[in-house]
Amino acid sequence: MKKILVFTSGGDAPGMNAAIRAVVRMACLQNIQVVGAIGGYAGILNQKFQALNLRDAANIIQRGGTILKTGRCLEFLKPEGRQKAALVLQQENIDGIVCIGGDGSFRGAQLLAAEHGYKIIGVPGTIDNDIFGSEDSIGFDTAVNTALEAIDRIRDTAASHDRLFIVEVMGRNSGFIASHVGLAGGAEDIFTPDGHSTVDKAIQRIQEASKKGKTSSILITAEGQKPGRAYDLADSIRKKSGLDAKVCILGHQQRGGSPTAHDRILASRMGASAVHALLQGKSNIMIGTRGNELIEVPFDIATQTHKKSPLSYVDLALQLAT
Ligand code: F6P
Repeated sequence: MKKILVFTSGGDAPGMNAAIRAVVRMACLQNIQVVGAIGGYAGILNQKFQALNLRDAANIIQRGGTILKTGRCLEFLKPEGRQKAALVLQQENIDGIVCIGGDGSFRGAQLLAAEHGYKIIGVPGTIDNDIFGSEDSIGFDTAVNTALEAIDRIRDTAASHDRLFIVEVMGRNSGFIASHVGLAGGAEDIFTPDGHSTVDKAIQRIQEASKKGKTSSILITAEGQKPGRAYDLADSIRKKSGLDAKVCILGHQQRGGSPTAHDRILASRMGASAVHALLQGKSNIMIGTRGNELIEVPFDIATQTHKKSPLSYVDLALQLAT
């Protein structure tokens, strides 16, 4: 293994830079050359490469976003796109690849490995934490803490004005951020794409809590298929109960910011482990976690379905927010 390619793909996640740093530094220590593709799979297709040496990975461990840029690439979904990418990679003398991203990115990697024989290792980087086969993903902890800080502030003003708030967090198909900030933030109800609550149940809970003397409440919802779902929920609640709910959509701020210590450590371990896996001749796997251990998860498993958010967290949150 003489030269490896690293790139970030899909939605950015805090800690991606720490993972890039770990890949670059670990590879350089083994005398392997590293290049980065700028902008994910599109960067490969457009031959936008940047050599990455030891010092290019300096001062990035604490930075949010990704120095390699990222994106979603439709052309790569087609066999012709992957054929073109394989030719480019051949011209660049790439021996191995580290792809930092979510399950959509790994599907592309899996196909490139199957069709063109490239050795590819995945590193899970997504705030959604919905990748099957790994308990954790880079960026999730930071996003949860970013959202939680906002929810704590909203709690202050909700309590001062005796108000009901609906806070929308990210997660198109994933209820992980919602269930975690719901439990950690003392939410009165939680809506996730995994279908944990209904408008009727939420109204009932708010009314019962009000009889027990509660004067303010916060409902958490994942954005689901369309950002702005919180407004639809507020409308339904108003129509069904007359309760007036203020809406706060946290949006893309959850994707930015300096990664937490947890995400920096996770990214450092995973990035280094990806390089070791390539050196051992491995391919078609994602580095995942089980407990505090790193594990190797075949792409076949990581891409077969989405991980479901924990119903037990929602149940506990509701029990405790009484
Ligand atoms: O990164 C994951 C995620 O934030 C999802 O929760 C969200 O639905 C989606 O990305 C939105 O991404 P974008 O705005 O980049 O299309």
